[in-house]
Amino acid sequence: MVEPIFHTHAVRRLYKPDRRAFEEHLIRLDPATRYDRFGLQVSDEYLRDYAELCFKPGSLVYGYFEDHVIRGAAELRVFQSRTRPPRRDGEAAFSVELPWRRRGIGTEVMGHIVLAARNRRVGELTIFCLRHNRAMLALARKFESDLAFERNEVTGHLIARPPSAISLLREMVDNALDLGTAAMDYQTRLLRSGMAP
Ligand SMILES: CC(C)(COP(=O)(O)OP(=O)(O)OC[C@H]1O[C@@H](n2cnc3c(N)ncnc32)[C@H](O)[C@@H]1OP(=O)(O)O)[C@@H](O)C(=O)NCCC(=O)NCCS
Repeated sequence: MVEPIFHTHAVRRLYKPDRRAFEEHLIRLDPATRYDRFGLQVSDEYLRDYAELCFKPGSLVYGYFEDHVIRGAAELRVFQSRTRPPRRDGEAAFSVELPWRRRGIGTEVMGHIVLAARNRRVGELTIFCLRHNRAMLALARKFESDLAFERNEVTGHLIARPPSAISLLREMVDNALDLGTAAMDYQTRLLRSGMAP
């Protein structure tokens, strides 16, 4: 087995060549997790189409990697609201595979999503959450200083704090590191598949 040369960080932004690994993460989700994540039962076919959509303009995805396999992910979709005047709104969603739960992965990927939403001046960030979903409600509560939630709802309103030089710089540095790590990941995958030169 090819050992990774270095781990800068386990969570990074995903790029188009990560689509397959992201899709595989979604397809590994058990039926209960799929239901909590999407609010209905979804097929593998649906998840493949969904994974494709996540790499279109207006969306960004972060993934938690362990041994080059994605075990947790968070997606952010940014769009124009229908309000007058229109503003920029967002929708976020999270998934962590069962054996990897309660290790702080959800918290880490959500931190990246909140930062990315702030830097894109998102006004309202919606996270659809079923009422019984105690894990998501607990996760959301950890971001109370950034997001305001209605009681019993998980539609977060990003507290209007404009991006600062530091928040923008943090994302820029993260992105630069992520690109480097992504390049290493692709090389490792190629080596493993025997396709490297
Ligand atoms: C919601 C989810 C992403 C959380 O992921 P996670 O990696 O387990 O989250 P963390 O380990 O960072 O835990 C975050 C907080 O929630 C709490 N928590 C996690 N699971 C919990 C549960 N089942 N019941 C109560 N609290 C829970 C943790 O204790 C933690 O708080 P703490 O740090 O104060 O202890 C994960 O449970 C999941 O994938 N659920 C299925 C999909 C889903 O529901 N997505 C949300 C809707 S889009």
